[in-house]
Amino acid sequence: MNPLSIVILAAGKGSRMKSETAKVLHDISGKPMLYHIIKESKKLSDDITVVVAHQKERVIASMQQYFDDLTFAVQDADNFPGTGGALKNVTVKHEKLLVLNGDMPLITAASLEGFLHNDSDIIMSIFDLKDPSGYGRVVISDSGVERIVEDKDANDIEKQITHVNAGIYAFKKEILETYIPKIDNNNAQKEYYLTDIIALANADKRTISPLLIDEEHFMGVNSKADLANAETIMQERIKNHWMRQGVIMQLPETIYIEEGVSFEGESRLENGVRISGNTQIVTSHIKAHSVIEASRIVNSSVGPLAHIRPQSELNNTHIGNFVEVKKSVLNGVKAGHLSYLGDTVAQEGTNIGAGVITCNYDGKKKYQTLIGKNVFIGSDTQLVAPVEIEDDVLIAAGTTVSCTKVEKGSLAIDRTPIKKVENFFYKFFGTK
Ligand code: UD1
Ligand code: CA
Repeated sequence: MNPLSIVILAAGKGSRMKSETAKVLHDISGKPMLYHIIKESKKLSDDITVVVAHQKERVIASMQQYFDDLTFAVQDADNFPGTGGALKNVTVKHEKLLVLNGDMPLITAASLEGFLHNDSDIIMSIFDLKDPSGYGRVVISDSGVERIVEDKDANDIEKQITHVNAGIYAFKKEILETYIPKIDNNNAQKEYYLTDIIALANADKRTISPLLIDEEHFMGVNSKADLANAETIMQERIKNHWMRQGVIMQLPETIYIEEGVSFEGESRLENGVRISGNTQIVTSHIKAHSVIEASRIVNSSVGPLAHIRPQSELNNTHIGNFVEVKKSVLNGVKAGHLSYLGDTVAQEGTNIGAGVITCNYDGKKKYQTLIGKNVFIGSDTQLVAPVEIEDDVLIAAGTTVSCTKVEKGSLAIDRTPIKKVENFFYKFFGTK
């Protein structure tokens, strides 16, 4: 691995998000923004420090679910607010460090290449924007990059500059140690700006290289509108990846697939499908507007308009419209219409009729329904769990199965004889 340390700034409040949740914990494609940045950083470095302050317990706990070898540095944000303050408590292992922002979820390891193969004292990122407002402007003269002026400190002429600071830097460890202590807070926001190291290093004739980067990878998320834009780009990447792996998608722009979903073989997704969590899909057909959450679907067809909830496993199974499945294992089962199967295990050759419901919850606890092979469950049956239906059972339509077991080979039928009252209609409504 490259001898590179990476520091990710994630201590800011992100007030422009107008949210109770720290900015870096907002989800993109099912994972917090910060997760995506760390995942890519790990491809480049074995020394990753995340700077935290605002909601630090939540940020740390969230990242520890996914990664086990991160360093967290706590910023003293009351006394040293700002991106420069964020680096005050940071020590790094390697001679070169890359500073990333926790609000840039679209960064990829490949897009950071330009920062790695350059030996300048500081490499700073620039992009050109038609509307540079809000960003730090990069003041460039004939001799190169001079300084960065923040939007709130810029005069009218500086505000016209369209080269903006993308907020990503690579520099030598010695630069960090020399200049971070020299940054002050004499500015409009009374903050310690990391951007001030450019002017300080420039005064000492250090080498500073500007690196032109593309907005698609380095856009910062500062508002919920930015969050939605970043989501669109992340979705395109995820879907393009899986289409290249052989997944067929109809109207892919209407499909949502989270980070963590995986496919094997050739599967087909119709329009409007949503697949989340760590779902695995193997050679299956997911029909229009179905929702699949954290489940495994193998050689099966699902939908249209079906809902497969977490911890389900479907093998060689057909699920039709308006069927909800939760925490169930279905092996070679057909459930074509309007059913709820929760906490259920069902085996080969079993047919679940329209409107069959597992009553898995008594208001306090959840219970299991076990269904054997070749069971035929008639329409509108309720299976009151816990219950076991053995192999080769027939359950008549409309039955409420309220016993705990139906033995192999039998019929279960629960019916009051039908009563017919002659001419009742005419007595009730009268004759015309
Ligand atoms: C910063 C840059 C600006 C650049 C822009 C690009 C400074 C002073 N300005 O501005 O030149 O154009 O990024 O997006 O650096 N953070 C901390 N501690 C803090 C404040 C912020 O860790 O005290 C973190 C935030 O969590 C965030 C990152 O630093 O991940 C950037 O902070 P933000 O407030 O978004 O900076 P900008 O105002 O956008
Ligand atoms: Ca920002």
